[in-house]
Amino acid sequence: MAVSSFPTFVAFLAQITLQVGALDTFIAAVYEHAVILPNKTEIPLSQDDALILMNKNIDILENAISQAAKQDAQIIVTPEDALYGWKFTRETIFPYLEDIPDPRVNWIPCQDPRRFGHTPMQTRLSCLAKNNSIYVVANIGDKKPCNYRDSACPPNGYYQYNTNVVYDAEGKLVARYHKYHLYSEPQFDVPEKPELVTFNTTFGKFGIFTCFDILFHEPSVTLVKDLHVDSIVFPTAWMNVLPLLTAIEFHSAWAVGMGVNVLAANIHHVSLNMTGSGIYAPDSPKVYHYDMETELGKLLISKLDAHPRISPAYPAAVNWSVYAVTIKPFPVQKNTFGGFISRDAFNFTELFENTGNLTVCQKDLCCHFSYRMLGEKKDEVYVLGAFSGLHGRRRREYWQVCTVLKCKTTNLTTCGKPVETASTRFETFSLSGTFGTEYVFPEVLVTKIHLSPGKFEVLTDGRLVNKNGSSEPILTLALFGRWFTKDAVPNSCGTSNLAMTCLLIPIFLMFIAL
Ligand SMILES: *[C@@H]1O[C@H](CO)[C@@H](O)[C@H](O)[C@H]1NC(C)=O
Ligand SMILES: *[C@@H]1O[C@H](CO)[C@@H](O)[C@H](O)[C@H]1NC(C)=O
Ligand SMILES: *[C@@H]1O[C@H](CO)[C@@H](O)[C@H](O)[C@H]1NC(C)=O
Ligand SMILES: *[C@@H]1O[C@H](CO)[C@@H](O)[C@H](O)[C@H]1NC(C)=O
Ligand SMILES: *[C@@H]1O[C@H](CO)[C@@H](O)[C@H](O)[C@H]1NC(C)=O
Ligand SMILES: *[C@@H]1O[C@H](CO)[C@@H](O)[C@H](O)[C@H]1NC(C)=O
Ligand SMILES: *[C@@H]1O[C@H](CO)[C@@H](O)[C@H](O)[C@H]1NC(C)=O
Ligand SMILES: *[C@@H]1O[C@H](CO)[C@@H](O)[C@H](O)[C@H]1NC(C)=O
Ligand SMILES: *[C@@H]1O[C@H](CO)[C@@H](O)[C@H](O)[C@H]1NC(C)=O
Repeated sequence: MAVSSFPTFVAFLAQITLQVGALDTFIAAVYEHAVILPNKTEIPLSQDDALILMNKNIDILENAISQAAKQDAQIIVTPEDALYGWKFTRETIFPYLEDIPDPRVNWIPCQDPRRFGHTPMQTRLSCLAKNNSIYVVANIGDKKPCNYRDSACPPNGYYQYNTNVVYDAEGKLVARYHKYHLYSEPQFDVPEKPELVTFNTTFGKFGIFTCFDILFHEPSVTLVKDLHVDSIVFPTAWMNVLPLLTAIEFHSAWAVGMGVNVLAANIHHVSLNMTGSGIYAPDSPKVYHYDMETELGKLLISKLDAHPRISPAYPAAVNWSVYAVTIKPFPVQKNTFGGFISRDAFNFTELFENTGNLTVCQKDLCCHFSYRMLGEKKDEVYVLGAFSGLHGRRRREYWQVCTVLKCKTTNLTTCGKPVETASTRFETFSLSGTFGTEYVFPEVLVTKIHLSPGKFEVLTDGRLVNKNGSSEPILTLALFGRWFTKDAVPNSCGTSNLAMTCLLIPIFLMFIAL
C-alpha cells in the first residue's frame, strides 16, 4: 500500500483537474443475484432456449438496475455467472456465448444491434444502461473464432472466455475483460496473458477483474499499483470458506490492504455457500450483505469517494512488519501445536489466560498477539496461529497468515474448523507479524458472520488493533498475506495455451540430441 509518493500525487492532481465535470463522490450499487439455473443436461440447449433462460435472469437484473438508477446510483455491478450459472462443459455453455468485440470499435449495441451479428444479450444490457442512464457491469460468455493455423485453437474452432462487460450511461461498450484465473471452469479457456482493463468515468478510474483473480498479482495488484485505479468492479461467484475466506471478510480486507474502493457483487445460492456482497472503501466497509436464511437477491447502494487517495479519510501507508520486527519478542510459547485450516498446516498456541502477550512462529513468520478479553474468560477456546507456505492442494499460492480464531469446540483438534458464533469480546487486541510481503489484508470477522466497521484499524507500523471500545464477539482476526514472488511456477503443461510449449521443448531437445 505504498501510498502517494509525491510524483504520483502530482500525477493524480493533474489527472483530476484535467477531467471537466469530475466528481468528488459517487453513488455505487451492487446486486446479489439469486441466479435461475438451467436444468442439468449433457445435450446442449438450442440458442433460443439458452436465450430464454438468460432473459429470465436479466428480467430480475433489470428490476435491480432500475431501482438503483431511481436511487441515483451511477454504476451497478452484477455477479459472475449471473445469466446462466456454472455447471457446464465446453459444449453445453456454447449456446449461451456471444462474440463480444473489443471496446475500441466504439459501439452502442442498443442503437446498432446488428453491427456484430447476433448479440441479443449485449443489446439488452446496453439498453438497460442507456435507458436508465447508469453504468452497468455484467458477466457473460465470449466466443472467439480461431482456426487450424493457430495450434492452440480448441477443436470446436472457438476460444470461450468468462467475460465481464461494462456499458456506460449511454449504453456504449467501454470495457471487456476475460477472466484469467479460472476456478474449476472446464467450459472456458485461459486468455493468452492477463488483461489489464480500465475505464475512465467522471467519478474516477476503474479497474475490473473476476472472482479468483483477486488472490493473484495479475491483473489485480497491477491495476492498483501501476495503473492507479480508484475503484475496482468485481463480479464474483464466491463460495464462502470459514475461517479466512468468506466473501465479505476477504473482499473488504483487500480494499483496505490495497487502498481502493471495491464494488463486489456475489451470486446468492445458499446451498453452495454463495452469499456476501458489499461496497468497501479503503478505510471501512460502507455496506455489505450476508444471508444464509433466504433465497432472495439484494440490492446494496452506498456513496463513495471518487478519488479515495486524496480524501482526508484515506489511511496512511502501512509497513506490515515494522512493529513485529522491532519489538523484543514475547517468549515463544512452549505449548505450540500443529493444526489445520483447510489443508494448510498451521502452528497454533492457545490463549490460556484472559490477558496476555503471545508469539507463535512458522518458518520466518512470527505472529505476535497482545490482548485483554472483556470480563471473565468464557468457555470458548481461541488460538493464535501462524502459516507460511504454499497453500492448499494445488500448492501454487504462497500465503503468510497470522490469525486469532475461535476453535469449534474446547477440543484443540477443532481449531481452524468452520465456526459461526462466538461470545468472547476483547477489551483490547493487537495482532502483528514479521511479514516478508507488502501485500497483507487485514480481516476481522465477528459472530454470525458479520464485519465490524468502525471498530478496528491498522496502525502504520502494521498492528491490527481494536478501536472505539471493546470488540464485537470475535470469530476470526487475521493478517492475510500473499507473497506473490514466492508462488510456485504453474505447471506449464496444465493450461491449454501453454500445452504447445510443453510439447515443443522435448521435440526441440530431441533434434539437438540427434
Ligand atoms: C427445468 O425442467 C422443469 C421440468 O421439466 C421445467 O418446469 C423448468 O422450467 C426447467 N427449468 C429451466 C430453467 O429450464
Ligand atoms: C429502452 O427504451 C426503449 C424506448 O424508450 C424501449 O423501446 C426499450 O424496450 C427499452 N429497453 C429496455 C431493455 O428497457
Ligand atoms: C483515462 O484517462 C487518462 C488520462 O486522463 C488516459 O491516459 C487513459 O488512457 C484513459 N484510459 C482509458 C481506458 O480511457
Ligand atoms: C458450506 O459451509 C459449511 C460450514 O462453513 C460447510 O460445512 C459446508 O460443507 C459448506 N458447503 C459447501 C457446499 O461447500
Ligand atoms: C518495513 O520495515 C522494515 C523494518 O523496519 C524494513 O526493513 C523494511 O525495509 C520496511 N519496508 C518498506 C517497504 O519500507
Ligand atoms: C511449526 O511449523 C513447522 C513448519 O510446518 C513444523 O515443522 C513444526 O513442527 C511446527 N511446530 C509445532 C510445535 O507444531
Ligand atoms: C504484555 O506486554 C505489555 C507491554 O509490552 C505489558 O505492559 C503487559 O503487562 C504484558 N501483559 C502480560 C499479561 O504479560
Ligand atoms: C479431541 O478430538 C479428537 C479427535 O476427534 C479425539 O481423538 C480426542 O479424544 C478428543 N479429546 C478430548 C479431550 O475430548
Ligand atoms: C463505534 O462503535 C459503535 C458500535 O459499537 C458504532 O455504532 C459507531 O459507529 C462507532 N463509531 C465510530 C466513530 O466508528
